[in-house]
Amino acid sequence: MESTGLHKGRVVLVTGAAIGNGQAFAAEFAREGAQVVLADLIEATETRDRVLAHFGTLEPLLLQVDVTSEPATKEMAYIVKEKFGRIDILINNAGVYDEEPFDLLTLEAWKKVLDVNLTGLFLATKAVLPAMKQQQFGRIVNLSSDTIWLGTPYLVHYVTSKMGVVGFTRALATEVGKYGITVNAITLGLTATQRPPGTKLTQGNILSHLLPPQAIERAETPEDIARIV
Ligand SMILES: NC(=O)c1ccc[n+]([C@@H]2O[C@H](COP(=O)([O-])OP(=O)(O)OC[C@H]3O[C@@H](n4cnc5c(N)ncnc54)[C@H](O)[C@@H]3O)[C@@H](O)[C@H]2O)c1
Repeated sequence: MESTGLHKGRVVLVTGAAIGNGQAFAAEFAREGAQVVLADLIEATETRDRVLAHFGTLEPLLLQVDVTSEPATKEMAYIVKEKFGRIDILINNAGVYDEEPFDLLTLEAWKKVLDVNLTGLFLATKAVLPAMKQQQFGRIVNLSSDTIWLGTPYLVHYVTSKMGVVGFTRALATEVGKYGITVNAITLGLTATQRPPGTKLTQGNILSHLLPPQAIERAETPEDIARIV
């Protein structure tokens, strides 16, 4: 697809940008002319190489960031603002999802999922909002999941966190709209992504819950939804 230059001049920060959805979103913004910042626990070299190989004249900025850390997210926003002078768009994509039957779900696993999927979103958003307010412009897109509507089994912690994302999005959107900042969430369906090593689920298992009720029985690809983001 040809670039329309829609995001030329925009600085776009994508969390969880090393693989999967985050990689596809960052690549799409790069195609559309944005300066992309790739924040992840792991170094997003694969995403950088994809962006440079396919689209880029602009070198992506890679930041190793744990979104559950307040100092790390503050530093992330500081570096982006210092380097590019603005932060236009934040894609809160970093997320984790281990499958676990409720009987086996430990407090530790519960806390981890809420920590990354909700507290991480809170901290990354909090870190970039001052720049967006100053600019009187900002776009925040939060990744929720269609499991909130489906009540998918073995994902109670995850589904809870992703319903929280919707509440967060709605409440914040009404608070910051007056500064020219929009906050939206996407409840995307099952998407065929890589998953980092150690993620506790089998694609086969989750597909068996989610695919049968779909109109088209195939998992989405990250590229299917990158344009929506
Ligand atoms: N894949 C799906 O079927 C699906 C469906 C609905 C929603 N989502 C949501 O989309 C988002 C991305 O999913 P994905 O399938 O691409 O996941 P993924 O596991 O393939 O990639 C997630 C990325 O987030 C990073 N990450 C994890 N914890 C982090 C932390 N604390 N700080 C910074 N980075 C961290 C990982 O290193 C990884 O690069 C998640 O929020 C997920 O809940 C995915």
